[in-house]
Amino acid sequence: MDSLVIEGGFPLHGTVRVSGAKNAALPILCASLLTDGACTFRNVPRLRDVETMAALLRFMGAETVVEPPQVQVAGASVRRPEAPYELVKKMRASVLVLGPLVARHGRAKVSLPGGCAIGARPIDQHLKGLEAMGAKITLEHGYVLAECARLKGASIQLDMATVTGTENLMMAAALAKGRTQLVGAAKEPEVEELARVLNKMGARVDGAGTDIIHIEGVDTLHGVDHAIIPDRIEAGTFMIAAATAGGDVLVEGAVPEHVEPFSGRMRTAGVEVTREEGGLRVRSPGARGLRAIDITTAPHPGFPTDMQAQFMALMTLAQGASVVTESVFENRFMHVPELNRMGANIEVRGRVAIVNGVDGLSSAAVMATDLRASACLVIAGLVATGQTEVLRVYHLDRGYEAIEAKLAPLGARIRRVRAAT
Ligand code: EPZ
Repeated sequence: MDSLVIEGGFPLHGTVRVSGAKNAALPILCASLLTDGACTFRNVPRLRDVETMAALLRFMGAETVVEPPQVQVAGASVRRPEAPYELVKKMRASVLVLGPLVARHGRAKVSLPGGCAIGARPIDQHLKGLEAMGAKITLEHGYVLAECARLKGASIQLDMATVTGTENLMMAAALAKGRTQLVGAAKEPEVEELARVLNKMGARVDGAGTDIIHIEGVDTLHGVDHAIIPDRIEAGTFMIAAATAGGDVLVEGAVPEHVEPFSGRMRTAGVEVTREEGGLRVRSPGARGLRAIDITTAPHPGFPTDMQAQFMALMTLAQGASVVTESVFENRFMHVPELNRMGANIEVRGRVAIVNGVDGLSSAAVMATDLRASACLVIAGLVATGQTEVLRVYHLDRGYEAIEAKLAPLGARIRRVRAAT
């Protein structure tokens, strides 16, 4: 397993370009299952999760050509509406094929995604919505079996603003007979982006980005050619890296509205975040020069849970104590013991972490446990005295396109140590 070695203490300067959004690309690739037409997606990030999704589409029979940043899918050749455990266990987002397959093929067999490092993450809302649209759902041998000759429109009240739940049901409703309304829908930019693509394919989705989405079902959808939005979480990770290490960085491609839920908090801590042509500029004296502030994660437009770990790295050196409350996932503090091994002073009480700012971090060998926790450890390594080694970076490669190749030109002393073959 590859690792990253980082020598800390170097400020960051220059420009870094943001790739396409992972959490938009994954549902959008699944949308290609809704049509026989050819789909071309551009600005698709070069990530392990995209490869896994492509493997899943191929498993079903969909011709899928991945030439990053472009992916082409021919949904017409789907013969096997199934998502096997071997692929779903690698990536929970595989569950996003469920809605499109039932809607397009009248049946689907999808492995239930198990729990993951950050929480139990059930899919009851996805299943509840499909049942409301008339699907017969059975669970057998770890698989969801869903059947319905033709889904019908329904009014669905979601118990929480689930992102992939909203996306799955939006795709299913696009080909249902009649009108569906999703009440309590997620409002993330990636949900809006999926609605944009569905409408380009001939769907009739209204209200994406609000908590009530209306979908008027149509009989067929056609192919599409679409360039995917930039990744706000990757953008945020670079913004926090610059804020923590200190320096002056232009994050090219960052969409100000998409990152506002956390760039606003960065400004409160004392980071200078300014709009510039094509992106956002971050100027910072380094984490030691910043104020500790509190954050509570919440669905969009609240503070994104996918930025919590990175923000905590920033707060480890800030002046004072910061209270970090994780309200979305029940187990998303796996990075805390690793940060404390680097000399941070963080106490966890259930879903609340109290981060007492310290004078400095010291390097150590640390273990990545999930995607965003690994990004947090990379950021801590940028400021720790000495050489930090982040192990198990395969977590990182799921959601960041060659992060070391993007950070090194900014002045970071970072390199990848390839696993011995
Ligand atoms: C999406 O996951 C993202 N993944 C996650 O990003 C992100 O952390 C999460 O949304 C929240 O923003 C993708 O888009 C592929 P949820 P998702 O359903 O859809 C509970 C990353 O780092 N819930 O919005 O799986 C659930 O347990 C990843 O890129 C139910 O109880 O998250 C959680 O506590 C990690 N029943 C909460 O809702 C359901 O049926 C929010 O989960 C669905 C969800």
